[in-house]
Amino acid sequence: MAGRENLDPAHVARYDGKMDSAAEAEVALLARFGLGRDSTVIEFGPGTGQFTIAVSPQCARVVAVDISPPMLKHLSGKLGAHGLQNVELVQGGFLSYTHHGEPVDFVYSRLALHHLPDFWKAIALLRVRAMLRPGGIFRLWDVIYDFALGEAANHIEAWCATGGDGVEGEWGRAELEEHVRDEHSTFTWLIEPMLAHANFEIIDVTRSADGFQSAYLLRAI
Ligand SMILES: C[S@@+](CC[C@H](N)C(=O)[O-])C[C@H]1O[C@@H](n2cnc3c(N)ncnc32)[C@H](O)[C@@H]1O
Repeated sequence: MAGRENLDPAHVARYDGKMDSAAEAEVALLARFGLGRDSTVIEFGPGTGQFTIAVSPQCARVVAVDISPPMLKHLSGKLGAHGLQNVELVQGGFLSYTHHGEPVDFVYSRLALHHLPDFWKAIALLRVRAMLRPGGIFRLWDVIYDFALGEAANHIEAWCATGGDGVEGEWGRAELEEHVRDEHSTFTWLIEPMLAHANFEIIDVTRSADGFQSAYLLRAI
């Protein structure tokens, strides 16, 4: 369940031109919650590694877990070019990565959990919780729908209408339609109970104005 485009080397090659992952701000946020030289970070779905590359110099170790071989190959090249040596690349996913050793301080995941259907999201969240020490921080940012069921058609159409004709530059309409049709973004009012069931406390949530993205800052209870 990697998502079709994430297995496409052409998409991987153009991803950094399409997406600014706000990596520096994300690292600064985690630093305010204790990220430092001794911290270990597990990242699920690093993709081309904008966050991975930003966080690596600020912590002891990053374990970057991605299901897509082309993404990992691309990220491996970028890590080499940056001379970063504390990042371990793992081909695997939320449901298959097994963490060995001490529970970690931070788990990070941006725009990846929506590749799992809801049953598997809940299992994945429980697995993430087990990798964190009590009090550890999970930053979860994803495409999550923040509107009522009865408003879905209008919101989805408005979102798809923001896409352009092609896929080379910004996100195309066809890519947004594919996201809704073939991927598994859920509602905020479904994922938040899942987070509670997995023993996460919501410290903070930032929602995009269009109701399509939520970024949770979560503490492991
Ligand atoms: C849209 S990219 C996001 C990349 C980056 N985190 C960002 O925010 O720009 C989604 C990434 O999640 C990965 N992915 C998909 N399913 C996954 C899974 N089950 N476990 C881990 N990673 C997964 C994809 O291969 C891809 O690299």
